[in-house]
Amino acid sequence: MKNSISTQFFAHTSKINSTKLWLPFVLSLVSVTAIANEVDKRQVLNLTEPQRHQVLTEMRELLTGTQDILGALAKEDMVSVAKSARELGFEMKHKAENPLHDVLPKAFMQLGMPMHKEFDLIAADAEALKDPKHTLQQLNATMGKCTACHATYQIRSSTATSEARLDEVAERGRHVMPFSLEKTTHVFSKTEQGGLQQVIVKDPKNAKQIQLIREHLTKISTEFKQGDFSNPAKIHGDTMPGLEELRKAKSGDINVAYKELPNGAEIHYSTKDPILINAIHQWFDAQLTDHARHATSLGHAKHQMH
Ligand code: HEC
Repeated sequence: MKNSISTQFFAHTSKINSTKLWLPFVLSLVSVTAIANEVDKRQVLNLTEPQRHQVLTEMRELLTGTQDILGALAKEDMVSVAKSARELGFEMKHKAENPLHDVLPKAFMQLGMPMHKEFDLIAADAEALKDPKHTLQQLNATMGKCTACHATYQIRSSTATSEARLDEVAERGRHVMPFSLEKTTHVFSKTEQGGLQQVIVKDPKNAKQIQLIREHLTKISTEFKQGDFSNPAKIHGDTMPGLEELRKAKSGDINVAYKELPNGAEIHYSTKDPILINAIHQWFDAQLTDHARHATSLGHAKHQMH
């Protein structure tokens, strides 16, 4: 019974109101299509996936920080206003402009750097003048820099699953890594004290590739021991996450152990310093993203140190 009533009800309404019901739906489709057809003409910043992540992390912190400032202003709590503003100032912790100084265009830096300085001024004035209206006016002016930059730039990531980037990595790899990326697999396993990097052949009978893997891993493990990370930097770029910390490590801080495997070779990185452990993990993640289908991860391997 219930069924037939509801069927009748819908048959009835749809007869009377069919145009009325459909029209808004059709109109909304039209407007969606119009938006979808518009092209983003803003200037493209071509970044790698980790670089994009770095910039967007700073951005989200800028938004959170701005919200904190507004919240404190609403309570006229000028001490908190100053504190939140200073966190977005020139000494901002995750300021992407520092590591990406050579990657981001000058005009981008010229919008970003003064903005950080303005947040410092907002902080200083909030402490000295304690005038919420003055702070609001300053914040309004500073946010003009957010919107001006957003109107000018968009970020495109050139890594991740992009075949072009993968080819680029493979091509640069050819000059640095003697073995074939197609005939071998890179396995990156994070461990509690660092990580294990293995390169193994897909065909265990391929003695030539096994030999090339062993030669190369012997060479780079010797270089890494001396704090020389220039080879991976040549393939993945100088701003690889973790690289800066690894370079700063004193010799002996990280234990780098090379070992032959029946079908390739491995390098085991281990350290007691939590900052360096984190740097190794970030460095592994970056290589994993960049090598994409040429590499796999074994997640958090429980690798025992003896
Ligand atoms: C020097 C340039 C610049 C300035 C200044 C700037 N941004 Fe951005 N921001 C960008 C770019 C570029 C993007 C990526 C936009 C895109 O690809 O569409 C972005 C993205 C964002 C995002 C999106 C984050 C995400 O996870 O996707 C937020 C939020 C943001 N910005 C907030 C802010 C705030 C708040 C300010 C000012 C206090 C600000 N930005 C100042 C360049 C800037």
